Amino acid sequence: MTRPVAVVTGASSGIGEAYARDLAAKGRDLLLVARRRERLESLAAELHELHGVGVRVAPCDLADRAGRAAAMAQIDDLGRAPEVLVLNAGFTSYGAFADLTAAREADMVELNCLGVLELMRHALPAMRTAGRGAVVVVSSAAAWQPMPYMATYAATKSFELTLAEGVREELRGTGVCVVAVLPGPVPTEFGASGGVPGGAGDGLPYRRPEDVVAATWRALARGRGRVSVGPLAVAARLAAVIVPRGLVLAATGIAGRRTLRRAEAHARRSSASRARP
Ligand SMILES: NC(=O)c1ccc[n+]([C@@H]2O[C@H](COP(=O)([O-])OP(=O)(O)OC[C@H]3O[C@@H](n4cnc5c(N)ncnc54)[C@H](OP(=O)(O)O)[C@@H]3O)[C@@H](O)[C@H]2O)c1
Repeated sequence: MTRPVAVVTGASSGIGEAYARDLAAKGRDLLLVARRRERLESLAAELHELHGVGVRVAPCDLADRAGRAAAMAQIDDLGRAPEVLVLNAGFTSYGAFADLTAAREADMVELNCLGVLELMRHALPAMRTAGRGAVVVVSSAAAWQPMPYMATYAATKSFELTLAEGVREELRGTGVCVVAVLPGPVPTEFGASGGVPGGAGDGLPYRRPEDVVAATWRALARGRGRVSVGPLAVAARLAAVIVPRGLVLAATGIAGRRTLRRAEAHARRSSASRARP
């Protein structure tokens, strides 16, 4: 008998890697999607060795239409509907919107929005026919409010949340469920790759990638459509409900400008110390 199979995007690091490790430990075959082939192949070999599961890799750029088509072809090649589809690949940029590289912002929309939309749309008919399965959309606490200096990112995460909740409702009674996962800060490569100031030691209440994974399974077991992970995510959710949006925006604006000024001062100090003989 073939084992159930799970698809994980963004499996080459961070939260996606944690989903892949957990699903393999639970005996799922895997299809791992991301761009860095070596990372995926080494994780695949390790998980096969540890758990005896079958692991395929799909090194695809999901910010690119052809890359998404290649990933969808790999899903078809599995020959069975995914039991779990984890749509997790995503990135951010950081800075004043007017100064950011337009092409990178557009890539973010392609990956964070179209990457989720197209893969979910592609996999769902077979999952619905199978009459079971789960789609996990890794959004963010950023989905709840506009975020100055991460404006595109927050907009893409709102898109994911709204899409996930709408599709979930459509699937009621089919046996397939959709859960939106909204983590607060998690220590992964995300901050550094997006140029976000801060990181370890910045005092934020971080949650581990494994906590995000465990919260996802708990939410699914309880039939929940979304789950906030960590105190900042819970606070963002509460603020969105009880605080007028204008006030939330004013607060994120103040916090954002403060962080930007600190980051600029840090960059100036670093370049001055590099210039010193
Ligand atoms: N870390 C946080 O604080 C945090 C908080 C809330 C939500 N999230 C969300 O969690 C998700 C995972 O992020 P993470 O924290 O685990 O960050 P991460 O360690 O940087 O992982 C991002 C993953 O996405 C993949 N990816 C990036 N661009 C891609 C592309 N064009 N095509 C295919 N795959 C691509 C990366 O692999 P390759 O580079 O190999 O392609 C990597 O596997 C994201 O959607 C993020 O928005 C993160």
